[in-house]
Amino acid sequence: MKRLSFFAAAMALCVSSGILAKPLVIAHRGASGYLPEHTLETKALAYAMKPDFIEQDVVMTKDDQLVVLHDHYLDRVTNVAEVFPDRAREDGRYYAIDFTLAEIKSLQVTEGFNIDEKGNKVAGYPDRFPMWKSSFTVPTFAEEIELIQGLNKTLGYDIGIYPEIKAPWFHRHEGKDISKAVLKVLKQYGYVSHSDKVYLQCFDANELQRIHNQLMPTMDMNLKLVQLMAYTDWNETMEYKSGKAMPYSYDWMFEKDGMKKVAEYADGVGPWKPMLVDDTSTKSNIVIKPLMKAAKQAGLQVHPYTFRADPGRIPAYTDSFEGMLDIFYNQVKVDGLFTDFPDKAVSFLNK
Ligand code: G3P
Ligand code: CA
Repeated sequence: MKRLSFFAAAMALCVSSGILAKPLVIAHRGASGYLPEHTLETKALAYAMKPDFIEQDVVMTKDDQLVVLHDHYLDRVTNVAEVFPDRAREDGRYYAIDFTLAEIKSLQVTEGFNIDEKGNKVAGYPDRFPMWKSSFTVPTFAEEIELIQGLNKTLGYDIGIYPEIKAPWFHRHEGKDISKAVLKVLKQYGYVSHSDKVYLQCFDANELQRIHNQLMPTMDMNLKLVQLMAYTDWNETMEYKSGKAMPYSYDWMFEKDGMKKVAEYADGVGPWKPMLVDDTSTKSNIVIKPLMKAAKQAGLQVHPYTFRADPGRIPAYTDSFEGMLDIFYNQVKVDGLFTDFPDKAVSFLNK
C-alpha cells in the first residue's frame, strides 16, 4: 500500500512538473453527446466533467457579432426555417451572416437534424437529447468565454478554451474579417500569450498563416495555433480565384515535409482520426499512419477529431469507446483528442 502511494505521488509529481505530459481531453462542441451542441447548457455540463479544454466553433452575424455555431448556416440546429421562412438563399440554406444577433437570439436550438425525403426532420444522433425539448439558444462567443472564466473563478479549475474560426474564406468573401474579430475578443478576455489556456484552430491554412505572420504580431499576441486537417475532396475550405470558389488543396500536408511546413506557423495539427489509424486496421493489427511520426518529428502536437460513443461510431478495429481511447492515447500517443463525451475520456485517463 505504502509502495503504491509512493508510486502515485511520484507519478503526480512527474505530470505536474511536465516530465510526463498527461494527454488532453477537449470537449467537442461541449458535452455534445448529452445536450444540444454549442449551447451554454452543454458547455456548463462539459465544464463539470473537468476536461482540459472546451471547444467553440465561431461564425459571424450580419451585424458583426461572433456567435458559437458549428455551421455558418442556422438550419441544422435551429427553427430558423419556421421563424424566417423567406430568408433562405437560393441554395435553400439559412446563412448566419444574413441575420442580426437579435434575430439569431430569437431562435430555438435543438439537437442537429437532417431533412428526410418526406420533409421530416430526423435527428442526426437518434439516441441523444430529444429534439425540440426544453429551451436552448445560440450563445455569443463572449457569453461563452464569460461562462468558462466565471466557472474557473467559482469552482477553481483552470479549464481552457479551444475556438475554431469557421470558414474565414467565406466571411472574407462576404466582406467580414472574422479572424481579426476573434483575436480582438480573445485579447479583450486576456488570452494573449503562448502560455495562456487557449488553442486557436482553423482548417484554412492561408488564414492560419496570416494570423501567425500578420495579425498576431500586429496585435501583440502569440497564441498557440492548430492546423485542422481535411482531405481536398471534402471541399471543406475554398479559395476564391478570379471570383470563383475553388477547393483548397490539402495535398501538400500529406507529402514529405508537409508537417515541417505546418510547424513553421502552427503548434499542432488536428487530423481526422482515420488519418492517424488506418480504417483497415484489425484488433490484432492497428496500422498507425506515417502522419503521426511526421507530425511528432516536426515538433507538432497532435489532437485528432472526433471521438463519439454513439451506436455505429466505434471503428471495427476495437470493441468499445474505451478501446478506441486506449488505441489513440496509448498506442498512437496523441497529445489530446476532441470528444463529444468528455466524461468518458476524463474517466479513462484518471484510471
Ligand atoms: O475542430 C475540431 C473538429 O471540431 C473539427 O471538426 O467539423 O466538428 O468542427 P468539426
Ligand atoms: Ca470544430
